[in-house]
This record gives sequence, C-alpha cells and structure tokens, in this order.
Amino acid sequence: MKNLLILHASQIATPTGNSIKHGREMDQIKCISDGAIYVENGTIKEVGKTNDVVEKLKKNNINKFDQIINAAGSAVLPGFIDSHTHFLFSGYRLEEFCERVGGSTYMKIMENGGGIQATVDETRKASFTELRDSGMQRLNEMLQQGITTVEGKSGYGLDEKNEMKQLEVFRELNLIQPVDISVTYLGAHAIPREYQDKADDYVDLMISKLLPKIKHEELAEFVDVFCDKGVFDLKRAEQLLKAAKKLGFKLKMHADEIANLNGVSLAAKLDAVSADHLIKISPEEIKELSKKENTVATLLPCTAFCLKENFAPARDLIDSNCGVALASDYNPGSSFTCSIPLIIALATFEMKMTMNEVLTALTLNGAAALDLANKKGTLEPGKVGDIIFLKYPDFRYLLYNTGGNLVSKVIKNGELVYE
Ligand code: NIG
Ligand code: FE
Repeated sequence: MKNLLILHASQIATPTGNSIKHGREMDQIKCISDGAIYVENGTIKEVGKTNDVVEKLKKNNINKFDQIINAAGSAVLPGFIDSHTHFLFSGYRLEEFCERVGGSTYMKIMENGGGIQATVDETRKASFTELRDSGMQRLNEMLQQGITTVEGKSGYGLDEKNEMKQLEVFRELNLIQPVDISVTYLGAHAIPREYQDKADDYVDLMISKLLPKIKHEELAEFVDVFCDKGVFDLKRAEQLLKAAKKLGFKLKMHADEIANLNGVSLAAKLDAVSADHLIKISPEEIKELSKKENTVATLLPCTAFCLKENFAPARDLIDSNCGVALASDYNPGSSFTCSIPLIIALATFEMKMTMNEVLTALTLNGAAALDLANKKGTLEPGKVGDIIFLKYPDFRYLLYNTGGNLVSKVIKNGELVYE
C-alpha cells in the first residue's frame, strides 16, 4: 500500500461530480479552507477540513503514511486537463509565424504549401526516437504548468507509416513519463500532397485501411477531423466520422474554426465527445449544442489569439447551457504554446468567463472532453490522485498574477512528480 496525506491547504478548490457541467453549473465550485486530502494507491479516499480528515483516518486506524505534505499557504486544485493538442511533431514554423504577425493569414500560407504540410514533411523525416524525445520535453513543460492529462493528436504523418509512427510514440510516452496521454487519430488533418486532387481516395484509404488497423492495435481512442474550408468538407468529414463510430471510436471534430461549414451540427448529430474551436459557430448551432448532454464545446483561446481571429463566443455558449472546456491546441502552427496562464487570461478578460467557470473548463469539463469525467477532473473520493499546488493561497491568483506560472508542486496518481 502506498499513501499520501496533504494537510492544512489554505484552500482546496475543485468542481464536483462525475460528469460534464453545463451553463450555470460551471460557476459552482467547492472551496475548503484548511483542507486535507488523503490518497491511497493513487486514488483519493478522503477530502475535507484537516481536523475532520485526521479524525476519520484515526478512527480507521490509518496512522502510517509514505508521505505527508503540509500545504499551508497553498491553494490545492485538481491537475489541469489539456483536452486538445497536437504536441507531437517535428520542425518549427517560425518564418510562417512571422509572416502572420506581419499580416498574412493561416489559410493563405496553407494554400501556398506551408502550414500543416510543412510540419508533415519534417515529421515524416523524424525518427521514432527524435519524436519521442521532443515529445518528452514538451510533456515535461506541460507537467510544470500543472497539466496531468493531455490529449495528443496524430495528423503530421498522414501516410500509413508515419501516422502509425506518431501513434506508437504516444504509446511509448504513456509508459515512460507521468502525464497521461489520451490519443486521437487525426489522419484527416490535411489532404496529403500525394492525394492532392484525390481527397475522396484519401478518405477511402483511412476508412478501409487505417481506421481498422488503428482499432485492431488499440492505438487511439478518438478520431478527429479538421472540417474546414480547403481541408475536409462536411460530406467527407461525415463519411469518415461515421465509419470511425461504427468501429467503436469516440469522435472529436475541429469545427467552425476558420469558416462555418456547419461542423458543430455534424458533431452534435453524431454524438461527438467534443466539438472544438467554434470561432465561427452560428446561433442555430449553439442551440443544437445546448441540447446535447455529452458533447463538450472545447474552446482554444490561444489559437484565436495567435491567428488574430475573434474569440469563440464562450458567454453565449455558457449562457445557452452548453458545457465548455478550455484547451491549448498546442501545435507548431496556430498555437505554439501550452501556457495555462495565457488560456486563463484570455478566457476571463477576452471571453468574459468567470474564474470559477475557467477552473471547471480546465479540469472537470476537460476530463469530460476526454470521456474521463468519472475518473478525473475533481478532488473527491474515488477520483485519481492528480493534484496540483499553487504558490499562493487562493486559486484566483491564477488570474491576479496574470501570466505567471504559479504551480509549485504536482502530484500524479498520488505521487509527487514535480516541485
Ligand atoms: O487546431 N486546425 C487545425 N489544426 C491545428 C493547427 C495545426 C497546424 O497548423 O499545424 C489547429 O489550429
Ligand atoms: Fe487543433
């Protein structure tokens, strides 16, 4: 048995429950002052006031601990869940980024053969080891931000060999470092050069060969598609997602990012676990999404910021009773950052979310976007012991100390992995 006792936290701040929070519920979080948490074999067993938890442990004759941490002065939160990233890639796109800073656009660069294709070229050249090592470094950076679970998408290989390579690197990374990775197959990230005027053939290849193979080898849990102008139209997206669903994959979608193709409608119709981006979502689609119990609206403010786009209408979504998650979209093109402090600043100041809503969006609703809300995203008995400490006594310092990384300790599965 391995156990951990955290005592005297200035504040334990957490959403509650085992499923997605919608609308107003997102603003309700639980705060405990002078709080304690007891974790046994990686699972949270007790949470409450320090006196109450200590009493209870005594009563149950639990008096030996592998580790006791005094959390006085710290706010203690569930580990952050970054539910949309493309962190596994090779090669950077600094020049393209500078062109955009100078006034060019994401789509213009893509039409000229840059963008995702440029990263595909570099990722195809990279060895398994190179990809693994750079992935490892980026995960370490995320861990230091308090991210304990991350989603990782393929989509920079596009051909069979290189998509499999990316997926296999994810598998290895899950074994050799502490951050949990939920894996998504995003073969439909761009139409590969070899299939430039044969997009239907590429969709056929994914459906007939790649999806069954990935399912058979259990290399991905989700399938995603970049449904947008110049990439995958609605018809092709639907074809691919329906086939994926039939094979038992859970669905995600890049929807209504650059143009509105009615992607959110499709995500709702197919019961996707999440619809992501939503910068161009229509009022009708907001209504449709609000009727879905389990499709998370995942918003990616760093992408909107770096593309100089408008921000997704977080307030309209929440006020219409949708469930919103926030994620980084970490990738070498549109959002080369995994900064939780930047997400928090943009979500509050620009998207008008409250601090409580932001906390829910980065924890429980992020977990829901990965179909993990029954295991992660809150500090409650039965949940995984993924816990972070801040160097200030109240979680709202995350915004007040704007842009700063306040994470002082990270506990993963009940073990201290960073301080
Ligand atoms: O979510 N939109 C598509 N995919 C990423 C960008 C990936 C890239 O530019 O490399 C996104 O913004
Ligand atoms: Fe993305």
